Amino acid sequence: MEGAELTRRGLLVGIGAAGGAGAMYAAMGALGLAPDEQVKTFTPPRPGDFSLQGRGAAKVVILGAGVTGLTAAYELGKAGYDCTLLEARAKAGGRNLTLRGGDRLTELNGPAQEVKLGEGLYFNAGPARIAQWMVTLDYCRELGVPIETFVNRNAQAYIHTNGQSVRQRTARADMYGYVAELLAKATDSGALDRKLTAEDRDRLLTFLRRFGDLGPELDYEGSPRRGFFDYPGLDEGSPFPPPGSLAQVLAAGTGRAITNDFGHDQASPMFQVVGGTDTIVTRLVEAIGADRITTGAKVTGITDLPDGVEVTWDGGRIKADYCIATLPPHLLAKIPHNLGADVTAALRLPTPMSTGKIGLEYDRRWWELEDRIYGGVSETDLDIARIWYPSYGYHGERGVLVGYYNHGPDAELYGALTPDDRRRRALTQGKKIHGEKYRTGVLSSISVAWERQEHIQGGWASWPAFDSSFTLLQRPSGRVYFAGDWLTRLTAWMAGAMESARGVVTELHKRVLQSS
Ligand code: ALA
Repeated sequence: MEGAELTRRGLLVGIGAAGGAGAMYAAMGALGLAPDEQVKTFTPPRPGDFSLQGRGAAKVVILGAGVTGLTAAYELGKAGYDCTLLEARAKAGGRNLTLRGGDRLTELNGPAQEVKLGEGLYFNAGPARIAQWMVTLDYCRELGVPIETFVNRNAQAYIHTNGQSVRQRTARADMYGYVAELLAKATDSGALDRKLTAEDRDRLLTFLRRFGDLGPELDYEGSPRRGFFDYPGLDEGSPFPPPGSLAQVLAAGTGRAITNDFGHDQASPMFQVVGGTDTIVTRLVEAIGADRITTGAKVTGITDLPDGVEVTWDGGRIKADYCIATLPPHLLAKIPHNLGADVTAALRLPTPMSTGKIGLEYDRRWWELEDRIYGGVSETDLDIARIWYPSYGYHGERGVLVGYYNHGPDAELYGALTPDDRRRRALTQGKKIHGEKYRTGVLSSISVAWERQEHIQGGWASWPAFDSSFTLLQRPSGRVYFAGDWLTRLTAWMAGAMESARGVVTELHKRVLQSS
Protein backbone atom coordinates (compact mmCIF):
# COMPACT_ATOMS: atom_id res chain seq x y z
CA MET A 1 0.00 0.00 0.00
CA GLU A 2 2.64 2.45 1.12
CA GLY A 3 4.77 1.73 -1.93
CA ALA A 4 1.78 2.21 -4.23
CA GLU A 5 0.98 5.56 -2.63
CA LEU A 6 4.54 6.77 -2.89
CA THR A 7 4.59 5.86 -6.54
CA ARG A 8 1.35 7.72 -7.18
CA ARG A 9 2.57 10.74 -5.28
CA GLY A 10 5.83 10.74 -7.20
CA LEU A 11 3.89 10.53 -10.43
CA LEU A 12 1.69 13.49 -9.50
CA VAL A 13 4.62 15.64 -8.48
CA GLY A 14 6.15 14.90 -11.86
CA ILE A 15 2.93 15.75 -13.75
CA GLY A 16 2.48 18.91 -11.66
CA ALA A 17 6.01 20.07 -12.39
CA ALA A 18 5.64 19.40 -16.13
CA GLY A 19 2.02 20.44 -16.81
CA GLY A 20 1.01 22.73 -13.93
CA ALA A 21 -1.87 22.45 -11.48
CA GLY A 22 -4.54 21.80 -14.14
CA ALA A 23 -2.72 18.79 -15.49
CA MET A 24 -2.09 17.56 -11.99
CA TYR A 25 -5.77 17.76 -10.99
CA ALA A 26 -6.81 16.01 -14.18
CA ALA A 27 -4.36 13.26 -13.38
CA MET A 28 -5.56 13.12 -9.77
CA GLY A 29 -9.11 12.73 -11.00
CA ALA A 30 -8.04 9.86 -13.22
CA LEU A 31 -6.31 8.21 -10.28
CA GLY A 32 -9.32 8.75 -7.99
CA LEU A 33 -7.35 11.17 -5.82
CA ALA A 34 -8.96 14.52 -6.64
CA PRO A 35 -10.51 16.18 -3.59
CA ASP A 36 -14.03 15.33 -4.81
CA GLU A 37 -13.10 11.69 -5.16
CA GLN A 38 -11.61 11.67 -1.68
CA VAL A 39 -14.76 13.11 -0.22
CA LYS A 40 -16.87 10.51 -1.97
CA THR A 41 -14.77 7.75 -0.50
CA PHE A 42 -14.73 9.31 2.96
CA THR A 43 -15.53 6.68 5.57
CA PRO A 44 -17.02 7.77 8.87
CA PRO A 45 -14.86 6.70 11.78
CA ARG A 46 -15.65 3.59 13.73
CA PRO A 47 -14.82 3.16 17.41
CA GLY A 48 -11.25 2.04 17.77
CA ASP A 49 -10.52 2.59 14.12
CA PHE A 50 -10.43 6.30 13.65
CA SER A 51 -8.45 7.77 10.84
CA LEU A 52 -8.88 10.80 8.67
CA GLN A 53 -8.47 9.69 5.08
CA GLY A 54 -6.34 11.90 2.89
CA ARG A 55 -3.94 14.60 4.01
CA GLY A 56 -4.68 18.18 4.98
CA ALA A 57 -2.03 20.85 5.24
CA ALA A 58 -4.08 23.55 6.94
CA LYS A 59 -2.98 25.39 10.02
CA VAL A 60 -5.27 24.95 13.01
CA VAL A 61 -5.19 26.81 16.30
CA ILE A 62 -6.76 24.88 19.16
CA LEU A 63 -7.92 26.75 22.24
CA GLY A 64 -7.46 24.60 25.32
CA ALA A 65 -5.16 21.62 25.83
CA GLY A 66 -7.56 19.48 27.82
CA VAL A 67 -8.58 16.04 26.57
CA THR A 68 -10.67 17.56 23.76
CA GLY A 69 -7.95 19.85 22.46
CA LEU A 70 -5.26 17.19 22.76
CA THR A 71 -7.37 14.58 20.97
CA ALA A 72 -8.14 17.03 18.17
CA ALA A 73 -4.46 17.93 17.78
CA TYR A 74 -3.45 14.28 17.87
CA GLU A 75 -5.88 13.24 15.14
CA LEU A 76 -5.23 16.29 12.96
CA GLY A 77 -1.50 15.80 13.38
CA LYS A 78 -1.79 12.25 12.03
CA ALA A 79 -3.54 13.67 8.95
CA GLY A 80 -0.81 16.22 8.28
CA TYR A 81 -2.25 19.38 9.86
CA ASP A 82 -0.11 21.98 11.56
CA CYS A 83 -1.68 22.49 15.00
CA THR A 84 -0.91 25.00 17.71
CA LEU A 85 -2.56 24.68 21.12
CA LEU A 86 -3.08 27.61 23.46
CA GLU A 87 -3.57 26.61 27.09
CA ALA A 88 -4.28 29.13 29.84
CA ARG A 89 -3.22 26.83 32.68
CA ALA A 90 0.36 26.03 33.56
CA LYS A 91 0.14 22.56 32.03
CA ALA A 92 -1.90 20.53 29.60
CA GLY A 93 -4.67 18.16 30.70
CA GLY A 94 -7.47 20.39 31.94
CA ARG A 95 -9.70 18.41 34.27
CA ASN A 96 -7.66 15.30 33.61
CA LEU A 97 -5.52 16.10 36.63
CA THR A 98 -3.69 13.54 38.75
CA LEU A 99 -1.89 14.81 41.84
CA ARG A 100 1.16 13.21 43.43
CA GLY A 101 3.62 14.07 46.17
CA GLY A 102 5.51 17.26 45.27
CA ASP A 103 2.68 18.76 43.21
CA ARG A 104 1.07 22.04 44.15
CA LEU A 105 -2.59 22.85 43.60
CA THR A 106 -3.67 26.47 43.51
CA GLU A 107 -7.24 27.68 43.47
CA LEU A 108 -9.16 30.91 42.94
CA ASN A 109 -9.79 32.78 46.19
CA GLY A 110 -8.13 30.10 48.26
CA PRO A 111 -4.76 29.00 49.57
CA ALA A 112 -2.48 26.76 47.53
CA GLN A 113 -2.08 23.17 48.69
CA GLU A 114 1.17 21.24 48.67
CA VAL A 115 0.51 17.62 47.81
CA LYS A 116 2.29 15.38 50.31
CA LEU A 117 1.17 11.93 49.16
CA GLY A 118 3.75 9.20 49.68
CA GLU A 119 5.73 7.40 47.01
CA GLY A 120 3.58 5.50 44.50
CA LEU A 121 0.30 7.08 45.63
CA TYR A 122 -1.83 9.38 43.56
CA PHE A 123 -5.15 11.20 43.62
CA ASN A 124 -7.24 11.59 40.48
CA ALA A 125 -8.75 15.01 41.07
CA GLY A 126 -10.75 14.65 37.86
CA PRO A 127 -11.78 11.65 35.77
CA ALA A 128 -11.08 8.28 37.32
CA ARG A 129 -13.36 5.60 35.85
CA ILE A 130 -13.98 4.45 32.30
CA ALA A 131 -16.85 2.30 31.00
CA GLN A 132 -15.95 -0.56 28.67
CA TRP A 133 -17.76 0.81 25.63
CA MET A 134 -16.15 4.22 25.84
CA VAL A 135 -13.74 5.42 23.17
CA THR A 136 -11.36 6.36 25.98
CA LEU A 137 -10.27 2.72 26.11
CA ASP A 138 -9.49 2.81 22.38
CA TYR A 139 -7.16 5.72 23.00
CA CYS A 140 -5.58 3.87 25.93
CA ARG A 141 -4.92 0.94 23.62
CA GLU A 142 -3.63 3.10 20.79
CA LEU A 143 -1.38 5.21 23.03
CA GLY A 144 -0.10 2.33 25.14
CA VAL A 145 -1.72 3.57 28.34
CA PRO A 146 -2.04 0.61 30.73
CA ILE A 147 -5.43 0.00 32.32
CA GLU A 148 -6.74 -2.07 35.21
CA THR A 149 -10.11 -2.82 36.75
CA PHE A 150 -11.89 -0.07 38.63
CA VAL A 151 -14.22 -1.49 41.26
CA ASN A 152 -17.38 0.55 40.93
CA ARG A 153 -19.83 -1.81 42.61
CA ASN A 154 -18.78 -3.55 45.75
CA ALA A 155 -21.17 -5.63 47.86
CA GLN A 156 -18.88 -5.07 50.85
CA ALA A 157 -19.12 -1.27 50.65
CA TYR A 158 -21.79 0.55 52.65
CA ILE A 159 -24.98 2.43 52.11
CA HIS A 160 -25.34 4.98 54.88
CA THR A 161 -28.79 6.52 55.37
CA ASN A 162 -30.58 8.08 58.32
CA GLY A 163 -27.60 7.47 60.60
CA GLN A 164 -27.39 3.74 59.82
CA SER A 165 -24.85 1.90 57.70
CA VAL A 166 -25.59 -1.37 55.96
CA ARG A 167 -23.42 -3.29 53.58
CA GLN A 168 -24.57 -2.94 50.00
CA ARG A 169 -25.16 -6.69 49.78
CA THR A 170 -27.64 -6.36 52.65
CA ALA A 171 -29.41 -3.41 51.07
CA ARG A 172 -29.72 -5.22 47.78
CA ALA A 173 -30.92 -8.47 49.33
CA ASP A 174 -33.66 -6.64 51.22
CA MET A 175 -34.88 -4.43 48.41
CA TYR A 176 -34.78 -7.16 45.78
CA GLY A 177 -36.35 -9.54 48.29
CA TYR A 178 -39.29 -7.35 49.24
CA VAL A 179 -39.95 -6.13 45.69
CA ALA A 180 -39.91 -9.74 44.52
CA GLU A 181 -42.27 -10.77 47.33
CA LEU A 182 -44.81 -8.06 46.48
CA LEU A 183 -44.75 -8.77 42.80
CA ALA A 184 -44.81 -12.54 43.29
CA LYS A 185 -47.81 -12.35 45.59
CA ALA A 186 -49.66 -10.03 43.25
CA THR A 187 -48.88 -12.40 40.39
CA ASP A 188 -49.85 -15.48 42.35
CA SER A 189 -53.15 -13.99 43.53
CA GLY A 190 -54.17 -13.24 39.96
CA ALA A 191 -53.96 -9.45 40.34
CA LEU A 192 -51.95 -9.26 37.14
CA ASP A 193 -53.96 -11.74 35.12
CA ARG A 194 -55.01 -9.10 32.62
CA LYS A 195 -51.34 -8.57 31.81
CA LEU A 196 -50.05 -12.12 32.04
CA THR A 197 -50.84 -15.42 30.40
CA ALA A 198 -50.65 -18.53 32.59
CA GLU A 199 -47.30 -19.29 31.05
CA ASP A 200 -46.02 -15.76 31.70
CA ARG A 201 -47.14 -16.08 35.29
CA ASP A 202 -45.18 -19.29 35.88
CA ARG A 203 -42.10 -17.87 34.27
CA LEU A 204 -42.31 -14.64 36.20
CA LEU A 205 -42.76 -16.51 39.48
CA THR A 206 -39.75 -18.69 38.74
CA PHE A 207 -37.69 -15.59 38.15
CA LEU A 208 -38.98 -13.73 41.21
CA ARG A 209 -38.26 -16.62 43.55
CA ARG A 210 -34.65 -16.46 42.39
CA PHE A 211 -34.45 -12.66 42.19
CA GLY A 212 -35.65 -12.19 45.76
CA ASP A 213 -34.50 -15.52 47.27
CA LEU A 214 -38.10 -16.08 48.34
CA GLY A 215 -39.41 -18.83 50.58
CA PRO A 216 -41.96 -21.50 49.58
CA GLU A 217 -44.88 -19.17 50.38
CA LEU A 218 -43.30 -16.40 48.32
CA ASP A 219 -42.22 -14.57 51.48
CA TYR A 220 -38.93 -12.72 51.78
CA GLU A 221 -37.61 -13.77 55.15
CA GLY A 222 -33.99 -12.82 54.74
CA SER A 223 -31.29 -14.70 52.94
CA PRO A 224 -27.59 -15.49 53.23
CA ARG A 225 -27.31 -12.76 50.60
CA ARG A 226 -27.71 -10.28 53.46
CA GLY A 227 -24.25 -11.21 54.73
CA PHE A 228 -22.67 -12.70 57.83
CA PHE A 229 -21.13 -11.62 61.09
CA ASP A 230 -18.70 -14.51 60.55
CA TYR A 231 -18.51 -15.88 57.05
CA PRO A 232 -18.74 -19.65 56.48
CA GLY A 233 -15.56 -21.66 56.76
CA LEU A 234 -15.12 -24.80 58.80
CA ASP A 235 -18.61 -24.14 60.13
CA GLU A 236 -21.62 -22.43 58.59
CA GLY A 237 -20.70 -19.05 60.05
CA SER A 238 -23.14 -16.67 61.69
CA PRO A 239 -25.49 -15.00 59.25
CA PHE A 240 -27.12 -11.66 59.78
CA PRO A 241 -30.57 -11.96 61.36
CA PRO A 242 -33.69 -11.65 59.21
CA PRO A 243 -34.44 -8.19 57.87
CA GLY A 244 -36.76 -5.61 59.39
CA SER A 245 -40.26 -5.39 57.97
CA LEU A 246 -40.87 -3.96 54.52
CA ALA A 247 -41.97 -0.72 56.16
CA GLN A 248 -38.75 -0.55 58.19
CA VAL A 249 -36.57 -1.28 55.18
CA LEU A 250 -38.37 1.37 53.14
CA ALA A 251 -38.17 3.90 55.96
CA ALA A 252 -34.45 3.26 56.40
CA GLY A 253 -33.89 4.26 52.79
CA THR A 254 -31.90 1.07 52.31
CA GLY A 255 -32.52 1.09 48.59
CA ARG A 256 -30.64 4.35 48.14
CA ALA A 257 -27.99 3.93 45.51
CA ILE A 258 -28.46 0.21 44.85
CA THR A 259 -29.26 1.14 41.26
CA ASN A 260 -26.19 3.39 40.79
CA ASP A 261 -24.44 1.02 38.47
CA PHE A 262 -27.51 0.04 36.46
CA GLY A 263 -26.73 2.84 34.02
CA HIS A 264 -24.87 2.19 30.81
CA ASP A 265 -22.09 4.53 31.93
CA GLN A 266 -21.56 3.06 35.40
CA ALA A 267 -21.90 -0.70 34.87
CA SER A 268 -19.20 -2.97 36.24
CA PRO A 269 -16.52 -3.75 35.53
CA MET A 270 -15.19 -0.32 34.82
CA PHE A 271 -11.55 0.53 34.19
CA GLN A 272 -8.93 3.01 35.31
CA VAL A 273 -5.50 4.02 34.12
CA VAL A 274 -2.66 2.31 36.00
CA GLY A 275 -0.82 4.92 38.06
CA GLY A 276 -3.26 7.79 37.40
CA THR A 277 -5.53 9.04 34.65
CA ASP A 278 -3.07 11.71 33.49
CA THR A 279 -0.99 9.15 31.61
CA ILE A 280 -3.54 9.72 28.83
CA VAL A 281 -2.46 13.36 28.78
CA THR A 282 1.24 12.53 28.94
CA ARG A 283 1.01 10.16 25.98
CA LEU A 284 -1.12 12.55 23.90
CA VAL A 285 1.32 15.39 24.55
CA GLU A 286 4.24 13.15 23.56
CA ALA A 287 2.47 12.19 20.34
CA ILE A 288 1.53 15.76 19.45
CA GLY A 289 4.86 17.30 20.48
CA ALA A 290 5.04 19.46 23.61
CA ASP A 291 6.43 22.31 21.52
CA ARG A 292 3.03 22.72 19.85
CA ILE A 293 1.47 23.70 23.19
CA THR A 294 1.82 27.22 24.59
CA THR A 295 0.87 27.18 28.26
CA GLY A 296 -0.03 30.23 30.32
CA ALA A 297 -1.79 31.65 27.25
CA LYS A 298 -5.13 33.18 28.18
CA VAL A 299 -7.11 33.84 25.01
CA THR A 300 -8.38 37.42 24.71
CA GLY A 301 -10.00 37.51 21.29
CA ILE A 302 -11.24 35.34 18.42
CA THR A 303 -11.81 36.93 15.01
CA ASP A 304 -13.25 34.95 12.16
CA LEU A 305 -11.90 36.28 8.84
CA PRO A 306 -12.75 35.39 5.23
CA ASP A 307 -9.44 33.56 4.85
CA GLY A 308 -8.68 32.38 8.36
CA VAL A 309 -9.04 32.98 12.07
CA GLU A 310 -7.05 35.34 14.23
CA VAL A 311 -6.64 34.55 17.90
CA THR A 312 -5.04 36.86 20.40
CA TRP A 313 -3.87 36.00 23.88
CA ASP A 314 -2.19 37.88 26.64
CA GLY A 315 1.22 37.25 25.10
CA GLY A 316 0.73 37.17 21.36
CA ARG A 317 -1.39 36.64 18.34
CA ILE A 318 -1.71 33.85 15.80
CA LYS A 319 -3.41 33.50 12.47
CA ALA A 320 -4.52 30.08 11.35
CA ASP A 321 -6.80 28.62 8.69
CA TYR A 322 -9.19 27.23 11.31
CA CYS A 323 -9.78 27.36 15.03
CA ILE A 324 -11.14 24.72 17.40
CA ALA A 325 -12.34 26.27 20.64
CA THR A 326 -12.49 23.69 23.43
CA LEU A 327 -12.76 25.97 26.45
CA PRO A 328 -15.62 25.50 28.91
CA PRO A 329 -18.67 27.30 27.44
CA HIS A 330 -19.13 29.62 30.42
CA LEU A 331 -15.56 30.91 29.96
CA LEU A 332 -15.64 30.96 26.17
CA ALA A 333 -18.77 33.14 26.35
CA LYS A 334 -16.69 35.89 27.98
CA ILE A 335 -14.00 36.08 25.29
CA PRO A 336 -14.57 38.85 22.73
CA HIS A 337 -15.31 37.46 19.26
CA ASN A 338 -17.11 38.35 16.04
CA LEU A 339 -19.11 35.12 15.77
CA GLY A 340 -22.45 36.70 16.51
CA ALA A 341 -24.77 37.27 19.43
CA ASP A 342 -26.52 33.91 18.97
CA VAL A 343 -23.21 32.13 19.59
CA THR A 344 -22.64 34.07 22.81
CA ALA A 345 -26.21 33.41 23.91
CA ALA A 346 -25.83 29.68 23.25
CA LEU A 347 -22.47 29.55 25.05
CA ARG A 348 -24.09 31.05 28.12
CA LEU A 349 -26.70 28.31 28.43
CA PRO A 350 -24.77 25.35 29.84
CA THR A 351 -24.51 25.67 33.62
CA PRO A 352 -21.23 24.84 35.30
CA MET A 353 -21.59 22.25 38.05
CA SER A 354 -19.66 22.64 41.28
CA THR A 355 -17.83 19.41 42.02
CA GLY A 356 -15.40 18.51 44.77
CA LYS A 357 -13.20 15.65 45.88
CA ILE A 358 -10.79 15.06 48.73
CA GLY A 359 -7.98 12.56 48.84
CA LEU A 360 -7.18 11.22 52.34
CA GLU A 361 -3.89 9.40 52.75
CA TYR A 362 -3.81 6.89 55.62
CA ASP A 363 -0.84 5.14 57.20
CA ARG A 364 -2.57 1.77 56.89
CA ARG A 365 -5.31 0.33 54.72
CA TRP A 366 -7.82 -0.27 57.48
CA TRP A 367 -10.69 -0.56 54.97
CA GLU A 368 -9.03 -3.71 53.63
CA LEU A 369 -7.62 -5.01 56.91
CA GLU A 370 -10.63 -4.42 59.13
CA ASP A 371 -13.66 -3.72 56.95
CA ARG A 372 -12.67 -6.09 54.15
CA ILE A 373 -13.44 -3.55 51.45
CA TYR A 374 -11.25 -3.80 48.37
CA GLY A 375 -12.15 -0.92 46.09
CA GLY A 376 -15.64 0.34 45.38
CA VAL A 377 -17.83 3.10 46.67
CA SER A 378 -19.89 3.65 49.82
CA GLU A 379 -22.91 5.83 49.17
CA THR A 380 -24.27 8.12 51.87
CA ASP A 381 -26.95 10.69 52.51
CA LEU A 382 -24.30 12.93 54.10
CA ASP A 383 -22.77 15.98 52.44
CA ILE A 384 -19.67 13.95 51.51
CA ALA A 385 -22.04 12.03 49.19
CA ARG A 386 -19.70 9.05 48.89
CA ILE A 387 -16.38 7.46 49.81
CA TRP A 388 -14.23 5.74 47.21
CA TYR A 389 -11.81 3.00 48.26
CA PRO A 390 -8.77 2.70 46.02
CA SER A 391 -8.79 0.10 43.24
CA TYR A 392 -4.99 -0.16 43.32
CA GLY A 393 -2.20 -0.82 45.78
CA TYR A 394 -4.12 -3.53 47.62
CA HIS A 395 -2.36 -4.73 50.78
CA GLY A 396 0.18 -1.94 50.42
CA GLU A 397 1.38 -0.01 53.40
CA ARG A 398 -0.57 3.20 52.79
CA GLY A 399 -3.53 4.16 50.70
CA VAL A 400 -5.60 7.11 49.52
CA LEU A 401 -9.36 7.19 49.98
CA VAL A 402 -11.60 9.67 48.26
CA GLY A 403 -13.30 11.08 51.36
CA TYR A 404 -15.91 13.02 49.44
CA TYR A 405 -16.98 13.29 45.84
CA ASN A 406 -19.98 15.57 45.72
CA HIS A 407 -21.75 17.98 43.41
CA GLY A 408 -23.93 21.08 43.61
CA PRO A 409 -24.62 22.64 47.02
CA ASP A 410 -22.62 20.00 48.93
CA ALA A 411 -19.59 20.70 46.75
CA GLU A 412 -20.04 24.44 47.22
CA LEU A 413 -20.22 23.97 50.97
CA TYR A 414 -16.87 22.15 51.01
CA GLY A 415 -15.33 24.36 48.34
CA ALA A 416 -15.97 27.45 50.47
CA LEU A 417 -13.98 25.95 53.40
CA THR A 418 -10.22 26.08 53.81
CA PRO A 419 -8.47 22.83 52.87
CA ASP A 420 -7.94 22.04 56.58
CA ASP A 421 -11.63 22.54 57.34
CA ARG A 422 -12.61 20.41 54.35
CA ARG A 423 -10.50 17.61 55.78
CA ARG A 424 -11.90 18.04 59.29
CA ARG A 425 -15.48 17.99 58.06
CA ALA A 426 -14.88 15.01 55.76
CA LEU A 427 -13.32 13.06 58.65
CA THR A 428 -16.22 13.84 60.99
CA GLN A 429 -18.67 12.63 58.37
CA GLY A 430 -16.71 9.52 57.40
CA LYS A 431 -16.44 8.52 61.06
CA LYS A 432 -20.22 8.05 61.05
CA ILE A 433 -19.69 5.12 58.71
CA HIS A 434 -16.34 3.69 59.70
CA GLY A 435 -15.96 4.72 63.33
CA GLU A 436 -13.09 6.40 65.12
CA LYS A 437 -10.40 4.74 62.98
CA TYR A 438 -11.48 7.05 60.15
CA ARG A 439 -9.98 9.98 62.02
CA THR A 440 -6.70 8.37 62.99
CA GLY A 441 -3.62 7.75 60.94
CA VAL A 442 -4.31 10.42 58.32
CA LEU A 443 -0.93 11.34 56.86
CA SER A 444 -2.00 13.96 54.35
CA SER A 445 -4.93 15.23 52.39
CA ILE A 446 -5.57 17.10 49.16
CA SER A 447 -8.86 18.54 48.01
CA VAL A 448 -10.10 20.01 44.76
CA ALA A 449 -13.06 22.36 44.25
CA TRP A 450 -13.48 22.42 40.49
CA GLU A 451 -15.53 25.60 40.51
CA ARG A 452 -12.42 27.25 42.00
CA GLN A 453 -9.96 25.90 39.48
CA GLU A 454 -8.67 28.75 37.38
CA HIS A 455 -9.56 28.64 33.67
CA ILE A 456 -11.99 25.73 34.28
CA GLN A 457 -14.44 26.86 36.95
CA GLY A 458 -16.72 23.86 37.15
CA GLY A 459 -16.67 20.07 37.25
CA TRP A 460 -18.59 20.04 34.00
CA ALA A 461 -21.25 22.10 32.24
CA SER A 462 -24.77 20.85 31.59
CA TRP A 463 -27.37 22.03 29.09
CA PRO A 464 -30.84 22.82 30.35
CA ALA A 465 -32.03 21.16 27.11
CA PHE A 466 -30.33 19.69 24.05
CA ASP A 467 -32.06 22.23 21.85
CA SER A 468 -31.19 24.41 18.86
CA SER A 469 -28.47 26.21 20.84
CA PHE A 470 -26.73 22.88 21.41
CA THR A 471 -26.89 22.02 17.71
CA LEU A 472 -25.85 25.55 16.75
CA LEU A 473 -22.55 25.07 18.57
CA GLN A 474 -22.07 21.61 17.14
CA ARG A 475 -21.67 23.39 13.81
CA PRO A 476 -18.81 25.74 12.96
CA SER A 477 -19.29 29.46 13.09
CA GLY A 478 -17.33 30.56 10.05
CA ARG A 479 -13.93 28.97 10.52
CA VAL A 480 -14.33 28.47 14.25
CA TYR A 481 -15.39 25.05 15.57
CA PHE A 482 -16.51 24.32 19.11
CA ALA A 483 -15.72 21.09 20.90
CA GLY A 484 -15.84 19.55 24.34
CA ASP A 485 -17.66 16.94 26.38
CA TRP A 486 -20.32 19.63 26.89
CA LEU A 487 -21.19 19.33 23.19
CA THR A 488 -22.01 15.64 23.43
CA ARG A 489 -24.42 13.40 25.30
CA LEU A 490 -21.41 12.29 27.35
CA THR A 491 -21.03 15.33 29.56
CA ALA A 492 -18.44 14.81 32.31
CA TRP A 493 -16.67 11.96 30.58
CA MET A 494 -13.33 11.93 28.76
CA ALA A 495 -15.15 9.88 26.15
CA GLY A 496 -17.35 12.92 25.50
CA ALA A 497 -14.28 15.08 24.97
CA MET A 498 -12.79 12.52 22.60
CA GLU A 499 -16.00 11.95 20.65
CA SER A 500 -16.47 15.68 20.25
CA ALA A 501 -12.89 16.11 19.06
CA ARG A 502 -13.34 13.33 16.52
CA GLY A 503 -16.58 14.79 15.27
CA VAL A 504 -15.07 18.22 14.75
CA VAL A 505 -11.85 17.09 13.10
CA THR A 506 -13.89 14.90 10.78
CA GLU A 507 -15.99 17.88 9.69
CA LEU A 508 -12.99 20.16 9.43
CA HIS A 509 -11.06 17.66 7.36
CA LYS A 510 -13.95 17.08 4.97
CA ARG A 511 -14.11 20.83 4.44
CA VAL A 512 -10.38 21.13 3.84
CA LEU A 513 -10.44 18.33 1.29
CA GLN A 514 -13.43 19.87 -0.45
CA SER A 515 -11.92 23.34 -0.57
CA SER A 516 -8.43 22.33 -1.67
N1 ALA B 1 -18.07 10.84 34.83
C1 ALA B 1 -18.22 11.26 36.17
C2 ALA B 1 -18.20 10.12 37.13
O1 ALA B 1 -18.00 9.00 36.75
C3 ALA B 1 -19.41 12.10 36.36
O2 ALA B 1 -18.41 10.31 38.29
